[in-house]
Amino acid sequence: MMKLAVFASGSGSNFQAIADAVVENRLDAEVSLLVCDKPDAYVVKRAEALDIPIFCFRPKAYDNKAAFEKEITARLHEAEVDWIVLAGYMRLIGETLLAAFPEHIINIHPSLLPAFPGLDAIGQAWEAGVKVTGVTVHYVDEGMDSGKIIAQEAVAVKPTDSLASLTKAVQAVEHRLYPDTIQSLLKERLSQGGPTYNEHQTSINQRIE
Ligand code: GRF
Repeated sequence: MMKLAVFASGSGSNFQAIADAVVENRLDAEVSLLVCDKPDAYVVKRAEALDIPIFCFRPKAYDNKAAFEKEITARLHEAEVDWIVLAGYMRLIGETLLAAFPEHIINIHPSLLPAFPGLDAIGQAWEAGVKVTGVTVHYVDEGMDSGKIIAQEAVAVKPTDSLASLTKAVQAVEHRLYPDTIQSLLKERLSQGGPTYNEHQTSINQRIE
């Protein structure tokens, strides 16, 4: 069973959608850890209710990003995590985590990238007056919402829409698309004979030596 760590900073509705998909057997994986940089975030309550282990930290308690990412990496290895799934984690991933989980970090963004990267993507699309927006799942690199695209789904902006109704429609797509895409990705990697956690670790250790 592939082990996921979900990283989140906010409400955690995508975290919930992924955890629900696991419980309902739509996603053959285990959510092994929630990583959260905001101890007061609602996502922490969701993880507690689901009995999912949590690693919460305050970035300001560390000297720099490398220092807290080093600690996160240790926790991920301890939990034998295979994949990092970002779900509203409001920070750029640094080189420490990128090096520890090459091609095993994904993100969801509420627009059709490369349009409207960054904060408040639904609001940006609304302000731009686009007729179609959507959701993107992509690999994470050092940039902002810039890695290789894995899946996209369009959402039409209806003449009767408000920003609130558009937000609801985009979120509904996110909650379906993210678990479905993770499931396809894991299946694809398994069928390609992609590295298991242990092979992955061995190759990292070899690189470090
Ligand atoms: C989602 O819209 C996601 O696409 C973006 O941040 C938001 C997180 O929402 N990256 P939630 O915390 O999952 O409810």
